[in-house]
Amino acid sequence: MRQGCRITILTGAGVSAASSIPTFRGPGGLWRTHRPESLATAAAFKDDPKLVWEWYNWRREVIAGAQPNPAHAVLTLWSRRYPGFTLVTQNVDGLHERSGTANVIRFHGSIWEVRCWNRCASAPPRWLDHTVPLSPLPPRCPYCSGLLRPGVVWFGESIDPEVLQQSLKGADCDVFMTIGTSSLVYPAASLVRSAKKQGALTVEINVEPTPAADVIDLFLEGPAEQILADIERRLAG
Ligand code: OAD
Repeated sequence: MRQGCRITILTGAGVSAASSIPTFRGPGGLWRTHRPESLATAAAFKDDPKLVWEWYNWRREVIAGAQPNPAHAVLTLWSRRYPGFTLVTQNVDGLHERSGTANVIRFHGSIWEVRCWNRCASAPPRWLDHTVPLSPLPPRCPYCSGLLRPGVVWFGESIDPEVLQQSLKGADCDVFMTIGTSSLVYPAASLVRSAKKQGALTVEINVEPTPAADVIDLFLEGPAEQILADIERRLAG
């Protein structure tokens, strides 16, 4: 990295943990009695849009009160230092962007975007809405008065083909780091495999090993906010 190289990073909820945003599968991941996996689906939304929106409304409030942490800050530095730097994030919180990171690919969309559930002809495909809290719930499409949905990718939905293509392009790099993700959700979890196949040095930063272990060259165990700051100190020293 001192000599300059093409770096691609994949981040997950663990990178925002130090900003006090609960991860999906860790402690605090449950919301009321619901598991995120059972709320983040089109079927759950169809069944009970108010309940699903209550969960997103709560997450929007938590995120609005959160600040980027040192993990975000180091990645922002790198995004400006390394030509060809790519950051693919599964996080929908927008903290990488708020920290000023360049070249962010939002793999699972953004919690700050909304879409018309009916895809009505008058509405744009998606638009920003930073209202916190949204009220009343569920929010209505201003164009057709039908339901609005969050602009995130739910389980069972496909990744935007252009986003997928850019991310796969990012997997062609010299160093690929997978940081703070459980490596359980595909196709995001396949990016490190693709990078390894193409000859990248693969690095994982996590507080515990994940199923990516079989393709990882270097496992750095610990909190992302500390390990990234350590790497940056060594690069600078
Ligand atoms: P998970 O909640 O599945 O995993 C978070 C990971 O972060 C775990 O492996 C933890 O060990 C690790 N972790 C926790 N604190 C950490 C810290 N301070 N430093 C480093 N690692 C830490 O979250 P994701 O892998 O992001 O998708 O989940 C992937 C997708 O599943 C999400 O994007 C979301 C979710 O359901 C959709 O909504 C489609």
